Amino acid sequence: MSKPKVFITRKWPSSVEEKLKARYDVTLNVDDRPLTADEFKHALQNYDAVCPTVCDSFPADVLNVENKRCKILANFGVGYNHIDIETANAQNLIITNTPGVLTESTADIAMTLLLMSARRGAEGDRLVRAQQWQGWCPTHMMSSDVTGATLGLIGFGRIAQAMARKAHHGFGMKIIYFKPSPADKSVIDDLQATRCDSIEQVMQSADFVSLHCPGGESTHHLINQQMLDLMKPTAHLINTARGDVVDTEALINTLKSKAIMGAGLDVYEGEPNVNKGLLDLENVSLLPHLGSATIATRTAMGEKVLNNLDAYFKDQPLPDRVI
Ligand code: DGY
Repeated sequence: MSKPKVFITRKWPSSVEEKLKARYDVTLNVDDRPLTADEFKHALQNYDAVCPTVCDSFPADVLNVENKRCKILANFGVGYNHIDIETANAQNLIITNTPGVLTESTADIAMTLLLMSARRGAEGDRLVRAQQWQGWCPTHMMSSDVTGATLGLIGFGRIAQAMARKAHHGFGMKIIYFKPSPADKSVIDDLQATRCDSIEQVMQSADFVSLHCPGGESTHHLINQQMLDLMKPTAHLINTARGDVVDTEALINTLKSKAIMGAGLDVYEGEPNVNKGLLDLENVSLLPHLGSATIATRTAMGEKVLNNLDAYFKDQPLPDRVI
C-alpha cells in the first residue's frame, strides 16, 4: 500500500523530518521559504495531510479551494488563529495542535521580556554596542524592581500559570489574575494568587501585566487605549500571546507619552512586519516570536504533530484534536 502524502509548510527540526520521511510520502520545505496562498491551495488539493504552522495563513478563501484531497491540518503550534476555524468546521476538516510541550519555554520568554523591560536590558545592550556608555554613575539607567512586585496575568491557562510559578517562587512576586472562572484551588494555594473581578482591575493593580489569552476575533484589541490608560505610570506590559490582542497604535501612543514605564513584545499585529512606530522607542523590548524556540521544545512540537498524524492514519483517537 502506498504511503499517505503529507505536506510540511516550513523547515522542521531534522530529527522529526527524518521520522516523517520514514513513515510518509512527505514533501518538506528544505529552504524554509514562506509559501503563498496558491501553494497552500495546491497542497490541499494534492496531499492527504497538510502541516501548517503559526505563520501560515489559512483563511476561508484558501480552505474553500475546489477538489480538496486533504482531510486534516496537523498544525505545528498550539495557537490556531491563523486557520479559519468556522470554514474548516463546515468542511469537517480535522485540525490538531501541539499543546503542553511549549508551556515552560514560552513562560521563560515572558519572564525574559519582563526582566528586559523592568531592567532596561535591550536599551543597555544598545548603549554599550553603540560605544555611548560614559561609565557608572548613581543615576544612570535606573529601572524597576521585579522582586516583590505584582504580576497581573490576563488569561490563566498553562503558560500563565507556569510564568506565575517562576515569578512567585523565583522572584517573590505577588500574583493576581483574570480568567472568567476561578483557577483550581491547588494552583491558587501554591501561588497565593488572587483572582480579580475584571481585566480592568488587573490593569489598574499590577506592576507587570502579562497577556496569555488566545488570539482571534474575541480578543482582537482587547488591550486598547482605555485599558492602557488604566495602568500605573510605573507599570510594564508583556505580550507573548498574539499581536492583535493589543492595539499597537494605542501602545505606541502610551509608550511615547511615557504613560507607562515599558513593554516587552514577542508577538505583533501582522508579523513578521513590525509597526515602525515601535522601532524608534527606547522603552520597548522586541523579540521575534521566540516563545517556543528552544531545540527541545521545537522537537517536541514536531513529535506531537507526528503523533497526531500517526493516530489519524491508523484511525485511532487523535491526541490533540481541536475540531
Ligand atoms: C504557538 O504554538 O502558538 C506559539 O505561538 C509558537 O511559539
